[in-house]
Amino acid sequence: MIRLHNVSKIYPPDQAALKGVDLKVADGDFLFIAGASGAGKSTLLKLLFGAQRASSGEVLVGGRNMTTITREGIASLRREIGVVFQDFKLLPRRTVLDNVAYGLEVLGVNIRERRRLALLLLHAMGLEDRIDAYPVTLSGGEQQRVAIARALIRKPKLILADEPTGNLDHEMSRRVFDLLLEANAAGVTVVVATHNLAMIEELNRRSIVLDRGKIIGDFSKASSVGGAL
Ligand SMILES: Nc1ncnc2c1ncn2[C@@H]1O[C@H](COP(=O)(O)OP(=O)(O)OP(=O)(O)O)[C@@H](O)[C@H]1O
Ligand SMILES: [Mg+2]
Repeated sequence: MIRLHNVSKIYPPDQAALKGVDLKVADGDFLFIAGASGAGKSTLLKLLFGAQRASSGEVLVGGRNMTTITREGIASLRREIGVVFQDFKLLPRRTVLDNVAYGLEVLGVNIRERRRLALLLLHAMGLEDRIDAYPVTLSGGEQQRVAIARALIRKPKLILADEPTGNLDHEMSRRVFDLLLEANAAGVTVVVATHNLAMIEELNRRSIVLDRGKIIGDFSKASSVGGAL
């Protein structure tokens, strides 16, 4: 699903954010990207989403070459990807329910079904009391959970999440990750950048560690599970 070969990213004029990164993520994998602030986590996700282009090397996502991809190619790829980014944007004039249901509107799903599915997700996110609220009246963590529900509702093939639990306490973080795990169990590939080491340890999935733009560790679930046996 995702392959990076010797990928570097330099923001002009000379800010190196990724250096010689090699990475493979198979269909159906769950991957954490860990690393200190400024290590390059968000940059890596942006390359996968076509929000930034690599300066050198090769980035393949779902069979598409992200270096040569056209704008139409990016648009079609994005229909297959659910994203939860740090600067998530909710639609200010729509309610919580409609922000989540909106993801299905463009796919032509009828309004009853859209709202039914949105309600299910909002319930799982603990937001059932806020469905008629407007985004500006929500806390940061509530907005984040709405953004996550919105990403999940379209049943994407790939979910990219950048610090999805940044504003959330442990219990809410766990709820978010349970939904991501559930999507993953249903076959969705999930890539999550996070500082949340407690969650990485608790979930015990494959994790790569970035340090100043380089991958300095790739810990597979198998090895951690093996160590625990
Ligand atoms: N648009 C940009 N222009 C210039 N430099 C940038 C830009 N975006 C990121 N950088 C730099 O690239 C490096 C990697 O940034 P990135 O946002 O990928 O880190 P990160 O691991 O996501 O950090 P954080 O945990 O704080 O979100 C940093 O040194 C950052 O200052
Ligand atoms: Mg970041």
